Amino acid sequence: MSATQATFPATRFRRTRASASLRNLVRETELSVNDLIWPVFVRDGSGIEEPVISMPGVVRRSVDRIVEAAREAQSLGIPAICLFPYTDPSLKTELCEEAWNPDNLSNRAIRAIKDAVPEIAVMTDIALDPYNANGHDGIVRDGVIVNDETVEALVKMALEQARAGADILGPSDMMDGRIGAIRTALEAEGHTNVTIMSYAAKFASAYYGPFRDAVGASGALKGDKKTYQIDPANAREALRCVERDLMEGADMVMVKPGQPYLDMVTRVKEAFGAPTYAYQVSGEYAMIEAAAANGWIDGERVMLESLMCFRRAGCDGVLTYFAPRVARLLNG
Ligand code: PBG
Repeated sequence: MSATQATFPATRFRRTRASASLRNLVRETELSVNDLIWPVFVRDGSGIEEPVISMPGVVRRSVDRIVEAAREAQSLGIPAICLFPYTDPSLKTELCEEAWNPDNLSNRAIRAIKDAVPEIAVMTDIALDPYNANGHDGIVRDGVIVNDETVEALVKMALEQARAGADILGPSDMMDGRIGAIRTALEAEGHTNVTIMSYAAKFASAYYGPFRDAVGASGALKGDKKTYQIDPANAREALRCVERDLMEGADMVMVKPGQPYLDMVTRVKEAFGAPTYAYQVSGEYAMIEAAAANGWIDGERVMLESLMCFRRAGCDGVLTYFAPRVARLLNG
């Protein structure tokens, strides 16, 4: 050791952590209400807000209440709301025809929001599970989820959503070729500005459990979704799916679930640079809420930290059930 060696640490990182002002100056990542997409559940009836048992604080709303929620989101500065229908079991069939009924719950909700709160972006889900007697995202024939016939159904569904006024279509079904088929149909009908956010890197995850309760699909689902959703072990395959969906005409891409898959967010953002989103899914939400309800964690702080981490990983935005709560905190 030389006599001239400094007797102080080469870098004192604690200098820029010493006060809130310094921490604010060196902060690398910001979380804003502009980063939030709020997923909501729609049901029939009017004046109804019905709790989802496995997602404390989340409700299924009738269309009139969905419009109120959209108004609230708009006033909080949340840029987009994402609709998921809870379809009456009597409307579920093997061929899922309700999915492209122009007056189905989801399409009625799109029109009602666009009439009342035209500024907010309305995002939809494209997948057959809410309408399928089998609970699957695709049409089942002889126990097999058939790809190309499902894509034809998804195209019909997408066109009805676009006609109803949806701004962002979210294909979450994981059939091959659906982005190209939907984009072609949208262009052919003149819907040139309808945006597609592909659930491109969507993994076959156990974290979706509470959601399937919320949309009433868990009882119906026979088997699992492993023949179409990505194996959680496969990162390179997920990157190839994202590349394919961008080539086929997706404007934005999503990684789902969120927090356990933040490595995928970073890799997708670095590889393609496209607008990249993550879905903080129902199981992630339920875990935070359950621990908070037990007093085991500070729910509010974990909520904010989890969303900041999505941003740090490279997300342009996050679909989160916490959206209005976060927005209220961020707006002070
Ligand atoms: C269905 C769909 C799912 C979610 C969004 N769209 C569930 C699934 O694939 O089984 C999950 C959302 C969540 O868990 O919050 N196509």
